[in-house]
Amino acid sequence: MTDARIDALVSDLTLDEKLRLVRGRADPEGRATGYLPGVERLDVPPLRLVDGPLGVRDREATAFPATVALGAAWDPDLARRLGRALADETRTRGHDVLLAPGLNLVRVPTGGRNFEYLSEDPELTSALGAAYVDGVETGGVGATAKHFVANNQEHRRDTVDAVVSERALREIYLPGFRAAVDAGASAVMAAYNRVNGHYMSEHRDLLEGVLRDEWDFDGAVMSDWWGTHDAVAAAEGGLDLEMPGASVVELFAPRSRALRAMLRLRPSDRLGIDPPLVSRLVDRFADDGQPDPYPFDFFGEPLKRAVADGLVAEATIDRKVRRVLGLYDRFGMLDGGRSPGAEGVGGARGPGDSPSSVDWDDHHDLAREVARRGTVLLADDGVLPLDGDESLAVVGPNADEAKVGGGGSSEVTPTRTVSPVEGLRSRAPRVAFERGVKPVANPSMFDVPGSGLRRRLRTGPDFEAAVEAAAAADVAVVVVQDGATEGEDRDSMALPGNQDRLVRAVAEANPRTVVLCRSSGPVEMPWADDVAAVVQTWYPGQADGAALADVLYGADPGGRLPMTVGRRFDDYPVAGDERRYPGVDEHVHYDEGVFVGYRGFDRDGVAPRFPFGHGLSYADFGYDDLAVERVRTGGAVDDLDAPGLDAPGLDATVTVENRADRPGREVVQAYVEPPAAPAGVARPRRELAGFESIALDGGERRTVSLSVPRRALARYDRRDGWTVDAGEYGVVVGRSSREERVRATVDLS
Ligand code: NOJ
Repeated sequence: MTDARIDALVSDLTLDEKLRLVRGRADPEGRATGYLPGVERLDVPPLRLVDGPLGVRDREATAFPATVALGAAWDPDLARRLGRALADETRTRGHDVLLAPGLNLVRVPTGGRNFEYLSEDPELTSALGAAYVDGVETGGVGATAKHFVANNQEHRRDTVDAVVSERALREIYLPGFRAAVDAGASAVMAAYNRVNGHYMSEHRDLLEGVLRDEWDFDGAVMSDWWGTHDAVAAAEGGLDLEMPGASVVELFAPRSRALRAMLRLRPSDRLGIDPPLVSRLVDRFADDGQPDPYPFDFFGEPLKRAVADGLVAEATIDRKVRRVLGLYDRFGMLDGGRSPGAEGVGGARGPGDSPSSVDWDDHHDLAREVARRGTVLLADDGVLPLDGDESLAVVGPNADEAKVGGGGSSEVTPTRTVSPVEGLRSRAPRVAFERGVKPVANPSMFDVPGSGLRRRLRTGPDFEAAVEAAAAADVAVVVVQDGATEGEDRDSMALPGNQDRLVRAVAEANPRTVVLCRSSGPVEMPWADDVAAVVQTWYPGQADGAALADVLYGADPGGRLPMTVGRRFDDYPVAGDERRYPGVDEHVHYDEGVFVGYRGFDRDGVAPRFPFGHGLSYADFGYDDLAVERVRTGGAVDDLDAPGLDAPGLDATVTVENRADRPGREVVQAYVEPPAAPAGVARPRRELAGFESIALDGGERRTVSLSVPRRALARYDRRDGWTVDAGEYGVVVGRSSREERVRATVDLS
């Protein structure tokens, strides 16, 4: 397919046909999350888009660990493999575009969708996001970088205005998207929220100025679902594709009698029905933070009228159509290069497989591997790893179910599950199980709210029995969790219900108590110093218990915190002023600027409970021989025009030795400490600049080279753009943002 062919197609299309390519419709089969009907007359097939970052949301699919667990693995190769596996399942289910990855930064520790995002750091998010995108795209599926940009809270996400400086956007919030674009993402999804006064679905400066003009993005920009507000503003502002485009009536009619009745009305009467009324009918969308689904579209009749009235040039529509056709073209869909929408295109893998099944052993194993690698050993007094002959008491309200994700559009129905109880029963000689306290609800957007487990229980949990079981076992394992969902933020960092009390009581009964925390982000751990070990497993997905058993019985996970675990919400840089969070009068002011996460803890001199980058190993690593050099190829280091940003600025080499007599995995982390900036410009004390995850056998030494890109040295100045201040830069290599092992300086005067 050539541009000439796309041009020819565009000139053959009528305006009505063009408009069919810039807004979604309901999938006749009801499976795709977003659907374009195509134009049969010109052999443009339907295009199918599906959620989302944790797995394919179409019947059963592998429920991979939450994206935050991938963030905790700090390994781009693993992210690429996961992206590739997701692409295979997407194709096998007959879809073309995956609505993932989520690249928003973790700004608010209680953010409802933190589990869908990678980290609080732009460098980590960029490296992993780019690899994920590459995996999806090389698997023949379009990746969608979402939610562009500053969708950092769920609270009033549909209307809130993020008031954020250009510097913070450039240094913190945009890099992940830039990396995804450079890695070849087919699509970008505009966020629901506003940024500095404009809805993202119509944000000309960011969509046209930054994304297209600066970054040369040639893919399609779609709205988030019901995130379009005005046909002309969106068309002129850079939006290519309105999603879902189909009216709420059309989308939900199969499930609602009232909506079916509404469908029978003439379209003109339907247009008169006000959105709130429809929202009430589709009540699961009526929550705080959820957009009102509207009973009409913007990029259909209204856009057509705008073209007729001369408010939008047809050439503008043509550009959008070209980009959407470009999406098709990437995967040979305009040449009949692949069978669009056909299930089973990924092929059966085993003799018993039906062509559309994705219940594959290798994907379950990958889910297990990512869950293990994303597990962070936060604290361990030596109780771990277990020997194998201990009796266990597994205590916890939901310990007999795998935690397969949070609520919302990322929900996946797993192909199989392994709960913590099952996983540990397969290893330990004796396992007693007691809930101790009431199950925590696993919120769902697609089910009656509340935990299915809670509904299935006949008898209430017995606190005393749990404590007694713990006292009688060699080791007590307490599985705690939160219940986060898209559409609302967690109301506090505390674990829900009586779980803290349960941990304390178990720890008092058994000094060998291991706490396993399954949470979307940081939780308060008031008992952290009183238990023998704390293990963070996020939302581990369908292989939960299997991965958990791997780690408890000695597999060195290699996970490191992708976000700071503070002692309390008030310690975070967004706390202390409603302006910063949750916002006042629909405005949330990013007054902390670039001081997000560990950058803010460092500025404020606040000790986190566990710092960014932290994670223990069963092995023991020594560091020496750090050498840092300027990379002189490609011009001066301070020649930091935008295209050169990713070019290497410094090379750091360091030798790492596994001093233990067992294999282990280390994440070597390099942080840059910039010199003082000009008066009035505050810079973070240190910022992550490069990292590598390495597996070393006992006694093995390896020299690791970390490339520090120019952008890691630079700050963004409104007037001068990317700027490298002259002076001495510290390069610190260590085990976390606060565990320095070796240091060097380099003079960039
Ligand atoms: C809204 C979510 O914000 C987005 O991530 C998702 O892809 C769409 N809904 C479609 O489900």
